[in-house]
Amino acid sequence: MSNLARHVAIIMDGNGRWAQERGLKRVKGHERGAETVRSITTFASNHPEVEVLTLYAFSTENWKRPKMEVDFLMRLLNRYLKNETETYIRHQIRFETIGDLSRFSPALQKQIASMKERTRDFKRLTQVLALNYGSQDEISRAAARLCNEGREICVRTLEEELESAKFGPVDILIRTGGDQRLSNFLLWQSAYAELFFTHTLWPDFTPEELESIIGEFKRRTRRFGGI
Ligand code: FPP
Repeated sequence: MSNLARHVAIIMDGNGRWAQERGLKRVKGHERGAETVRSITTFASNHPEVEVLTLYAFSTENWKRPKMEVDFLMRLLNRYLKNETETYIRHQIRFETIGDLSRFSPALQKQIASMKERTRDFKRLTQVLALNYGSQDEISRAAARLCNEGREICVRTLEEELESAKFGPVDILIRTGGDQRLSNFLLWQSAYAELFFTHTLWPDFTPEELESIIGEFKRRTRRFGGI
């Protein structure tokens, strides 16, 4: 039986370079990147196997960027959620997040909560945005909670505590933009993920390329530590 592409996770990299190559400001790359988020999410919702699409939209390290870029990303996310609500409803996409939202503005937190509420019963695809997310932070906070409650720390209990665990293990992990690293993204859930690195910059990433990656994934042999 061939591999099932149930959970696809993507590190969306290369927005800044996409813009700079065109003599544009970096934020223009994020703007185009948001359009790619829409097209890839819509494609995934129509794919027969993909049930979960997790996208790394803002890491715990991204706060280090210039304030103007961080502010732009916050406004872009707010605008995206507002404008795309109907798309999510039309394609029956449930919207979810992982990460610590408490650092976002009350208005953005409200927008996120409202999108989750309006889409919570949809089953065609769950799109998970990783926002102010970092895997080490997620794992250490889960361990601290277990410790405080005097519970055993083992694979099973940790999995119960991890925010990302409810979306299941990652089957395909893609990074666009040419770098080959995981940047603290879904480290636990990607223990047995198949990794794909493409030089395509995120704004240029297409459903066709995702389809071709899924095709290659199906040809790979997954052993999960067995032989
Ligand atoms: C990495 O590109 C991208 C980000 C840090 C942000 C991701 C944001 C988007 C794809 C757009 C907004 C998202 C949503 C959900 C509306 P980079 O800036 O690090 O690119 P570079 O490596 O070329 O500098």
